[in-house]
Amino acid sequence: MTRNIVVIHGPNLNMLGRREPVIYGAMTLAAIDAALAERAAAAGAALRCFQSNHEGALVDMIHDAGWSADGVIINPGALTHYGLSLRDALAMLKAPIIEVHISNVYKREPFRHTSVVAPVATGQITGLGWRGYLLALEWLLRED
Ligand code: DQA
Repeated sequence: MTRNIVVIHGPNLNMLGRREPVIYGAMTLAAIDAALAERAAAAGAALRCFQSNHEGALVDMIHDAGWSADGVIINPGALTHYGLSLRDALAMLKAPIIEVHISNVYKREPFRHTSVVAPVATGQITGLGWRGYLLALEWLLRED
């Protein structure tokens, strides 16, 4: 089981709850992080959550917290589609990386159909709403 999990949220995800709720739902980022913390605690895992609107700050977080994590859940926001320094930072990690998108990016504008992160991620969950994060966490917590 993965014991030390880091959750990273990219640009504009601090606005969840108020941001285009038809697309992203009504859950706030704080409520999502609280749900993840509760599930991790029940499993005896340590979980830390970070958010930034700045690519360099996300890279710093990956160098710091991501490096020591043994599982990473990341929603890179729009950086998904062009954030090459974010991708390069993730590529350094040995831990599994789950890329999560609240909306189904493949049903949306063509620019959202490309992920520069996907080739360095272990897997991707897209379109299952905020519960996609919980599903990613369940996978990291699996006992096999
Ligand atoms: C998103 C999808 C991205 O295209 C968008 O830029 C976001 C959120 C999602 O969670 O559905 O900021 O990653």
